[in-house]
This record gives sequence, structure tokens and C-alpha cells, in this order.
Amino acid sequence: MNISVNPVSRLKGTLSIPPDKSIAQRAALFSLLSKESSVIRNYPEAEDPLTALKCIQSLGARVEQDGNTVTITGVGRDSIHVLDKEIYCGNSGTVMRLLAGILAGSGAEATLSGDPSLSARPMKRIIDPLTAMGAEIQAKNQQFPPLHIRRNGPLKEIEFPLPVASAQLKSCVLLAGLFGKEKTRVIEFIPSRNHTETMLSLPVIEDGDKYIIESSAEIPVSPQHMVIPGDFSAAAFWMVGASILEGSCVHLPRTGLNPTRSAAMHILQRMGADIVAENHKEEGGEVVADLTIRSATLKAVDLYPEEIPNAIDELPVLAVAMSFAEGVSRIRGAEELRFKESDRLEAMEGLLKKAGVHFESKKDGM
Ligand code: S3P
Repeated sequence: MNISVNPVSRLKGTLSIPPDKSIAQRAALFSLLSKESSVIRNYPEAEDPLTALKCIQSLGARVEQDGNTVTITGVGRDSIHVLDKEIYCGNSGTVMRLLAGILAGSGAEATLSGDPSLSARPMKRIIDPLTAMGAEIQAKNQQFPPLHIRRNGPLKEIEFPLPVASAQLKSCVLLAGLFGKEKTRVIEFIPSRNHTETMLSLPVIEDGDKYIIESSAEIPVSPQHMVIPGDFSAAAFWMVGASILEGSCVHLPRTGLNPTRSAAMHILQRMGADIVAENHKEEGGEVVADLTIRSATLKAVDLYPEEIPNAIDELPVLAVAMSFAEGVSRIRGAEELRFKESDRLEAMEGLLKKAGVHFESKKDGM
């Protein structure tokens, strides 16, 4: 497919932002854990959320789609059974890592496979804690998909300090813990996106400089009735586009503004971006607001390492904003970007180089 893109001098208008993939994939997977029907509105038609629906069907869920409304009748936490021994997770790291937790916790035996990009992503980070919880996992070179998951003995509850700020890893362990008699505890030092704990109403204890999130079989799993909010990650492109093109004004209604996702907006505002958020509302535990972005003169910014996890998917587009800002901006502590669908730091460097931007690359940023 060839697509021609012509330059425009400014951006003006109102856009309906696509629904949030992180939340939608979770809504599908968590619906499997409830026997009652879940009605999810504004479900995205994107590849990863559609993969999530196919995967839960392989585990016995009934899925009915009517336009963008999806009704899912799950099997319940105690009745997870595998209909297809190989479950294909496509390109979705979220589906593979979260499903691995559900399989390890429930004791259902299956193989999780993925496309070539997902098959090259590190899984040792989930294999280690799930093995400590009693799962037996076979993986290519002990760390890459496909993952064959089974459990022989009883589930062992663990206390797990997160070695990397990763919401997928956190969610994987908490989902396995949801099947245990005793509490599994995940300890987080820099909070990563918190959709799992919010959507499953898991207890979160703030203890000094750390957060302890608990899960166990005692925590009831309710059906997921919700309207999926607009995807902050998709909105970030328009925030940057409208900021850097003089004379722009873009409205983005119902954009998800979960504080553990929206650091990029605050970073842009620190750079001088004119972004106004109004009509804040809470929908299914998630904050949404209407955004208006007007062009502005941007100045350079230094990112704090603790804000990286909450801007992890927006760093590439923030690098574009930094290229248009006056002064030298610095991104450090972002090594995790090397382990995404592609090495995002390398990809950013390639594009900035082509565009003639001056930058210095570092192991953990630029
Ligand atoms: C995601 C978490 C992040 C993010 C990814 C989606 C999620 O990944 O980059 O796009 O849905 O939990 P990590 O958990 O690997 O940091």
C-alpha cells in the first residue's frame, strides 16, 4: 500500500481519538474471569485488541460484537479451560504477558505464540516470577516465545519487587496471584500504568517510597462494564503536531488522562505547550477530559527518570517536539525502549538523522 502525505501549514479541527488499547485488551482478558456478561463499548478495531478477543475465545469465552460494542461472557476464574492448545497472541506483548499470568495461575496448559516481532521480545522477566509461583515454562532459549505454560503442583504466592517498571510484568504476576489462597504482593518503586489494579479493584498500599499491590482468590472479579476512553498515546501525536505548527488549534474530546499514562502532556506543558484540559470526568475508574491544543513556542526540557515509565510510549513523539524546541533536551533512563516491538531508541535515532536533527545517542536515551 502506498500512502502519500502532503505537508500542511497548520492543524485545525476536532478529532475523535481511537479507543485505548491497553485498557481494551485488559477489559477483554478480565471479562474471561467473570461468569457474568461484560458489555464493553467503544472497543477498538485495532489488531491487538481483536487478538485479545480471539485469545479469550480459545479459553472458552463467548464474544459477540455489534459495531464497537462487545459483549463477553466469560467462564469464571475457576473454570478456565483451553480449547486451542496453541494461543496466538499476534503482535501484542500485553496479551502474551497477561495471559501467561492467567494460565500459570489457573493451571490451564497451553502454548502462547506470537508474530516474529513478539517472538523476539524478552519473556525471562515473566518466566522467573511465574516459575517461582510454581509454573513450568518452556521458552525458546529459555527467554523467547513461544511459551509453553503448565503447572504441576500448587500455586505458590510470592512477594515480588518489580525489577523493571513494567505494567505488563506487574499485571502478569498479579493475575497469577488472583488464583492463590494467600496474598501475592507486587512492590513497585516507580508506578507504571495502573489499569490492572484499577479495573480489578486490587488493594494498593502506599508505603513510604513504594507501592504494594495485592491479589488473591479472595478478591471478587466483577464483569467489565465500561466505555473505553480515548487513547492518550494516540492523542500525544496531535498534541505535538498542533504545538509545533503555527496557527494550529486541535480539540480532542474524551481523551484518557490516567495520571500513570499522561506524563507526556505535563512534559509538553513544561516545554511551553498550550494544552488545556477541561470537563474532567471519571468513567469506570479512568479520568477522561476534553483537550484543546494551540500552537506555542517550545523550549528544551530534561526528563526526570521517574517520569519515563509514565511516558514510555510517547517518548518517540516527544523527541520530535524536542527537535522543534529551543535549546538542548535530554532523555535519560529510557533503556526499556530498546525492548519494545522494535528498538524504539534506534528507530528514533534513524528518523531524527534523516530529518537532519542534531542529537547524541546514549545507551539509555539521547
Ligand atoms: C503496556 C505497558 C507498557 C507499554 C505497552 C503497553 C500495557 O509496556 O509500553 O505499550 O498495556 O501494560 P511495559 O509493561 O513493557 O513497560
